[in-house]
Amino acid sequence: MKKKILTGLQPTGVITLGNYIGAIKQMVEMQEEYESYLFVADLHAITVPQDPVELKKNRRSLIALYLACGIDPKKNHIFFQSENEYHANISWLLECNTYFGELSRMTQFKDKSQKHQNFTAGLFTYPVLMAADILAYDVDYVPVGIDQKQHVELARDIAERFNKKFGTTFKIPEPLIKENATKIYDLVDPTKKMSKSEENPKGVIRLLDPLDVVRKKIMGATTDSLMSIKYDPENQPGISNLINIYSAMTNKNYSEIEDEFKDSNYGTFKKAVADSVVSTLEVIQKDYNTYLNSSELDDILDSGREFSRKIAKEKFEDMKEKMGFSRK
Ligand code: AMP
Ligand code: TRP
Repeated sequence: MKKKILTGLQPTGVITLGNYIGAIKQMVEMQEEYESYLFVADLHAITVPQDPVELKKNRRSLIALYLACGIDPKKNHIFFQSENEYHANISWLLECNTYFGELSRMTQFKDKSQKHQNFTAGLFTYPVLMAADILAYDVDYVPVGIDQKQHVELARDIAERFNKKFGTTFKIPEPLIKENATKIYDLVDPTKKMSKSEENPKGVIRLLDPLDVVRKKIMGATTDSLMSIKYDPENQPGISNLINIYSAMTNKNYSEIEDEFKDSNYGTFKKAVADSVVSTLEVIQKDYNTYLNSSELDDILDSGREFSRKIAKEKFEDMKEKMGFSRK
């Protein structure tokens, strides 16, 4: 039987080429090996203020984009967290088995509560909802960025405590941290990570940027005066970043790329990089628009909801029974 993985995606911000190369491509590869649960963590999104119109748009757009990037609806159970009421139900039962002190130690809470003057109780209990997301499905692995590792560890602690107190109920999940994923840097300042929250849009490629804008951003990328196309992140961070991008788009390795461009100038190389990114994004954007307006997307979400509700309901009933909520 296939092992299970689960990931939640927050429907905030615009997805960048860095996210695509560093995270989404890996998920597309992993779906071959694992049974995968993939949901939009829309209940997590509202732990900080959200505009309802934006939230509604972003949830759907996120799923359409992931499907366009190659997430296969036949290999993933895809759903909205808020359409499966058992997540919030399970979360309450878990909250009453989680200590205030444990939640106070979460570094994400410490950071975010400092940023928002009036932060909500939801921001504090956020990691318990995340534990519910994970524990409802008895998953083996939770692929996450390093910033979420502490939350997965808390989910393990909560599960172990519950199992000890009420009898074995949950599988203990493991975080799966992608360590050797390629990091993509900002095109204007190639010493910092390409980030959703960067203010200067010239350095960041968003998957839904118009293609002529994408081309301009790559042609304008910061390079150096060494005039050689070599993978050398220390001395040529800009060129090395472009090599990484080109490698991810074409599946060519560094030496193949160095060889291909050994007699080229930077302009020729940048044009090749731009062509490779533009042709990848062209297909993604076309598929995105098709999915966004199709009833197929709703069918995918309906079947993901039904599948996930059935499993999470069983877990919820089992927990209630063990905690003393049955009539007889
Ligand atoms: P974030 O955009 O920080 O929410 O990250 C979502 C996922 O994308 C995480 O798995 C990150 O490790 C990955 N990611 C974000 N930015 C980059 C980048 N510039 N290069 C590579 N991976 C990235
Ligand atoms: N907290 C995660 C983030 O901000 C999103 C998330 C919610 C999640 N529930 C999850 C990730 C369960 C993995 C498993 O990125």
